[in-house]
Amino acid sequence: MNPQKRIDELTEILNEANYNYYVLDKPTITDQEFDKYLRELEKLEIEYPGYAKETSPTKRVGGEVIDKFNKIRHRIPMLSLPDVFSEEEIIAFDESIRKNGYKPSYVCELKIDGLSGSFHYENGILTTGATRGDGSTGEDITHNVKTIRTLPLKLKEEIDIEVRGEIYMSKNTLLALNEEREKTGEAKLQNCRNAAAGSIRQLDSRIAAKRNLDTWIYHLPNPEDYGIKTHYDSLEFMKKLGLKVNPANRLAKNITEILDFIHEYGEKRGKLDYDIDGVVIKVNDLDMQKSLGFTAKYPKWAVAYKYPAKEVLTKLKDIIFTVGRTGQITPNAILEPVLVAGSTISRATLHNEDNILKKNLKIGDIVSIRKAGDVIPEVVEAKMERRTGQEKEFKMIDKCPMCHTPLVKKENQVDYFCVNKDCPRRNIESLIHFVSRDAMNIEGLGEEIVEELYNLGFIKRIEDIYSLKEKTKEIQEFDGYGEKLLGKIIDNIELSKKNSVEKLLFGLGIKGIGSKTAKLLAENYNDIDNLARSTVEELETIKDIGHILAVSVFDFFNSNRDLIANLKEIGLNMSYLGPRKKVHREITGKKFVITGTIEGISRNEIKDFIELNGGTTSESVSKKTDVVIVGISAGSKETKAKELNITIWNEEKIKQTMKEE
Ligand code: IVH
Repeated sequence: MNPQKRIDELTEILNEANYNYYVLDKPTITDQEFDKYLRELEKLEIEYPGYAKETSPTKRVGGEVIDKFNKIRHRIPMLSLPDVFSEEEIIAFDESIRKNGYKPSYVCELKIDGLSGSFHYENGILTTGATRGDGSTGEDITHNVKTIRTLPLKLKEEIDIEVRGEIYMSKNTLLALNEEREKTGEAKLQNCRNAAAGSIRQLDSRIAAKRNLDTWIYHLPNPEDYGIKTHYDSLEFMKKLGLKVNPANRLAKNITEILDFIHEYGEKRGKLDYDIDGVVIKVNDLDMQKSLGFTAKYPKWAVAYKYPAKEVLTKLKDIIFTVGRTGQITPNAILEPVLVAGSTISRATLHNEDNILKKNLKIGDIVSIRKAGDVIPEVVEAKMERRTGQEKEFKMIDKCPMCHTPLVKKENQVDYFCVNKDCPRRNIESLIHFVSRDAMNIEGLGEEIVEELYNLGFIKRIEDIYSLKEKTKEIQEFDGYGEKLLGKIIDNIELSKKNSVEKLLFGLGIKGIGSKTAKLLAENYNDIDNLARSTVEELETIKDIGHILAVSVFDFFNSNRDLIANLKEIGLNMSYLGPRKKVHREITGKKFVITGTIEGISRNEIKDFIELNGGTTSESVSKKTDVVIVGISAGSKETKAKELNITIWNEEKIKQTMKEE
């Protein structure tokens, strides 16, 4: 027998058997036959390594060990989907598409709870596998992906193609794995998703191979290359290539059929051998998808409906209080640890005193908890029928748990505050906020380290962060501060000086200013000095900045001139480094009336543009109107504007202004 020919033959037989068994779930040969062929192939490949094929099923057991994960750039970004939590939101999604004049049909798919992967085939041979990463760059996991038995090493056609789907671990595999881990004393894996993610990030593919990972393929990024017109056809196409496509996928003509699918799988999900956390609804027609397009983060042609979170019961052991950077006091539930939707919960925010009183919670109660939006744990209610009489009444504290300053509650407000500006907890929380990711993003300077450096007296104020480098010798005297760790932190501190100013603005913790508003301020003022000079009235002309925010910004700069001057002196960048947005000052603060039609621009577009630039619009012309925009077939409003001597912008003027971005 010609060994090369036999190796080819065995590879073919075993791959086909694998496909029938794993993808189609229809075995064609017995396990014994399979093992016999596999052993024969292994033997031949050892004897004639040169003839072993890239697509050999022996690769499934792993073998390749890498020393680090290489980065892979996705030619087409891997986006995620916007979540919706109710039927109303699905109806609104459908309406938003119909509003554009489309009559869509949809594909409903199960939302698999794993991690998404991109798989490239060249000439039908699997060449690379990558994780999603941040959407534009992922990690090369080819060595592990090759161990996934349901992902063909060779397609049924010799084509170049990228396909995407979910890598997941089945519930049964997780159970077996955890049983094994229990025996060996290893920590159990919390849920299928974490287990899959941990397995795919193994450097040693032999470990990944043992984890028995699986795939569902659901996305073809380049359908036009294959002349495909609908998403459903792309699924069929990928199925024909030998990929594992979920048989649950279903076409839906209308909302009723979408809701039927959701209800059906709401019932069936417990019986599936894999975790799903919802249903994905995608516009079927690919041209329609294309013209609907994308927002910065999401496609506009798909949404992910999330099933309501499951509720579980546990004991409310205690209520403790934390102090935020603004001095706000938050009560927190300390719970008997319990598993909810895949992770162990032992704590949940109770928001404020009113919330606790409204729910009539007592310490010792049996409470039901759930994860809101499957992320943040929430105490839903106390189970009154489980009360024994031994429960302890909840009582709000009246002094700061940290500095014992009497708490203050403003009239008509629900929150209590510690008003001591020197409260150590407030200071620590402010510093933690300053270095956090959306703020100055000083990696390595985590919450615990900030707290410790504060308690050791090395950082008391924001400015101190930037003089840490002069104290490295002293800090190194303390346990856990090696030269390497400290060096990294100092480097990152230095690096943060170059941040665009919106990060600083957010980090300063100005009341009411989140990262989005900080960016808005940076875009509009370009420079912190400009912003610090601004009046309340000027600030208010910016869209989305109301009176309260404007006053808050104004007050902050009024009372923190020294801090800003010090940070400038230290060398922090104080300017906006992002793309500048042109602000049309001739619009800011003015009242507009639009009359007649402007060709090619809708009235709403003009309205949005005016509002974006700090102007307002109204329906009728009065003495208070500053500008009347006059289009085709304008009527009495134009006449009135002329009578009142109000500035008139014609079609050309508004079009020109809107063009200047
Ligand atoms: S489609 C551009 N379909 O859910 C469309 N995603 O938030 C890309 N997922 O990152 C995704 N099942 O990891 C799609 N049937 C399915 C899915 C699915 C699970 C995951 C995927 C994605 C996330 C979206």
